Amino acid sequence: MKAVQFGEYGDPDVLYVAEVPEPHAGAGQIRVVVRAIGVNPWEWKVRSGALREFMPLTLPSIPGSEVAGVVDEIGDGITGVSVGDEVFGFATRDAYAEYAVMAQDMFAHKPPALPWPEAAALPTAAETALRALDALGVTGGQTVLVNGAAGGVGLAAVQFAALRGATVIGTASEPNHDFLRSLGIAPVTYGEGLVERVREIAPTGLDRALDVAGKGGLPDLIELAHGTDNVLTIADPDAEKYGVRCSSGRSKNPFPALDQVARLIEQDAFTLPVAETFPLAQAPTAHRRSQSAHFRGKLILLP
Ligand SMILES: NC(=O)c1ccc[n+]([C@@H]2O[C@H](COP(=O)([O-])OP(=O)(O)OC[C@H]3O[C@@H](n4cnc5c(N)ncnc54)[C@H](OP(=O)(O)O)[C@@H]3O)[C@@H](O)[C@H]2O)c1
Repeated sequence: MKAVQFGEYGDPDVLYVAEVPEPHAGAGQIRVVVRAIGVNPWEWKVRSGALREFMPLTLPSIPGSEVAGVVDEIGDGITGVSVGDEVFGFATRDAYAEYAVMAQDMFAHKPPALPWPEAAALPTAAETALRALDALGVTGGQTVLVNGAAGGVGLAAVQFAALRGATVIGTASEPNHDFLRSLGIAPVTYGEGLVERVREIAPTGLDRALDVAGKGGLPDLIELAHGTDNVLTIADPDAEKYGVRCSSGRSKNPFPALDQVARLIEQDAFTLPVAETFPLAQAPTAHRRSQSAHFRGKLILLP
């Protein structure tokens, strides 16, 4: 099969399409013919070599973790799915490829009307957002800010928080403000002066603040949310320095998150836009776009 891999750490151009052996479904696994693949910042952080000290890879390595596709092999012990079913979820590894393997509880059925790219956009965003909101204790009646509301995880987090009954403020650049408003989210511009801008909307401050961006906003969030206990980040490397909790590492059973988001989409109660799609061979361009960090929703590769 064709897969995107890199044989050395470096800039996006180290990625290339190679012929590699197909994976097959082992016990407790399915295999899918991949129709769309989600691109996540983690993948270019790994590719760059920035994480090689604590996560050394055997090279060449195929990036990627989330896919949507059609089941074509079923291993022993798998229940609730048949060959030909359309699913989305987390691959065991090597998702930038034409075939991927997924373990039980790592996938859910794709809503039938949902296009493939939109389905591949969901797993990381939904699982991460729900895990972070749970860890932060977001419930109805609270005023909650999501810093970095226009990306994959951020858009999922603002919608899940609003569905819980919270009043939600989301930070984004101006071009994304109308879209956030259309979801019932109050948009504010991130960066200098954030505290004052948020206080105009929420004069008594915030009950909870979730930092998705990881770009230096924590001191403002701590001030707005009355202390570190009400703040959580998923991305800021300075979390410890500020005494803020960081949620990382996928939950052991992502099925409830995948199933929940699929049901919400069927009810037209959740949306995660695809900003752009790229053929596999343009993986370097997709990584460059992801590294630019300014777009709405998710970037997707198409095999
Ligand atoms: N800990 C975990 O379990 C976990 C899981 C998934 C992701 N992550 C990390 O979380 C971060 C976000 O992931 P993602 O997939 O949601 O990213 P993403 O989709 O690539 O984020 C892009 C978005 O970031 C926004 N943005 C850029 N600079 C910003 C700033 N200074 N302040 C606020 N927003 C800003 C952009 O909004 P504008 O276009 O409006 O500028 C854009 O919509 C990444 O660092 C990723 O590695 C962690």
